[in-house]
Amino acid sequence: MLMNNYSRADVGFVRGDGAILWDDSGKDYIDFASGIGVCALGHSHKGVAKVIAKQAKTLLHTSNLYNIAPQTKLADKISNLLGGGYELFFANSGAEANECAIKLARKFGFSKGRKSEIISLKNSFHGRTIATLAMTGQDKFHPDEFGAYPDGFKFYDSIDDIIANLNENTAAVIIELVQGEGGINPLDKDKVQNLAKILNQKDILLITDEVQCGVYRTGEFVTSKLYDITPDIITFAKGLGNGVPISACATRKSIFSPGDHGSTFGGGFLVTAVSEYVLDKLDELKNSGKLDKIIAKFEKKIDKLIEENSDIFLKRVGIGLMQGVVLKDPNLLSQIVSKALENRVLILRSGDRTLRFLPPLNLSKKEMKEGFIRLNLAINKAKK
Ligand SMILES: Cc1ncc(COP(=O)(O)O)c(C=O)c1O
Repeated sequence: MLMNNYSRADVGFVRGDGAILWDDSGKDYIDFASGIGVCALGHSHKGVAKVIAKQAKTLLHTSNLYNIAPQTKLADKISNLLGGGYELFFANSGAEANECAIKLARKFGFSKGRKSEIISLKNSFHGRTIATLAMTGQDKFHPDEFGAYPDGFKFYDSIDDIIANLNENTAAVIIELVQGEGGINPLDKDKVQNLAKILNQKDILLITDEVQCGVYRTGEFVTSKLYDITPDIITFAKGLGNGVPISACATRKSIFSPGDHGSTFGGGFLVTAVSEYVLDKLDELKNSGKLDKIIAKFEKKIDKLIEENSDIFLKRVGIGLMQGVVLKDPNLLSQIVSKALENRVLILRSGDRTLRFLPPLNLSKKEMKEGFIRLNLAINKAKK
């Protein structure tokens, strides 16, 4: 029996193809969630399956005590995609990538004689380990029963407040450029650029948590590129492996020495070989201009959905294929998500009043059209 830590819908999927999933009774569903922004190339991608099979037949695990060729290759690839000059650490989940960022920031702060505080936004989400919960700004993630939380984390409501509260003990500031769990909230570009400039002047690290908004989700390899900033540390996960568990922490600062950090499984042969292939395919999608076209079409579809249901929807929020629709009445949120499931289209919620869309990045025209037809029906049922 499983622990009672998730509230699961009463459906189980047995097979997938692109943005389509089939449940155990043979019914098909259009997947506008791709896990939670994980399967960027869709389900059962033939090329991904091939890489997995090939690597499984060649070598799966040796430990990080020896060179792992696909890991080194992937590190160089990610650094190149970031414009060069980054060192990589690979782990297995977004929270672990952020744990690495916390240790980098603390060691950096220590080397400067600071108390090594890390500042985040109140509406942030950075993971479920005890330290990443402590770094998550939303109060609901700090219930007493999981205390005591590690100290060294401070939260503020806005970027202006963060800037006003930087002090001699600040080691780093961490932000999600598009907040994923606290409502789909893109941060203001001018404010982010101003923050980056001030942090640079004060020798404080800027960390962007791109676990959800990275890996082409917003149309560029990293959302930092859209914001024209060069963070000191960037964390990735979800879309990096199309479903195999891989995350990464990239830094421009050489901070760690051997023994400072590690992971038994992190950066193994299988996940790094898959991730390199996934990034190749996503690069192709971007460079061919297809990704931008899919984004434009998807945005149009959402705008139409909002127009046709202006009685319940307030506005579209988000960037690229990380989109949200804000509801006038938050009470309708669960109703729409569950009616969508009944009508066989998967969507997510974010915060307390936003529908969240994280479809595969290679979503076909047909899948998109069918998904929005089903969603419209579901919304009409939810309104009744
Ligand atoms: C921005 C952000 N950071 C960190 C995490 C934690 O990632 P994981 O669940 O892989 O540990 C998430 C997960 O939703 C996230 O959205």
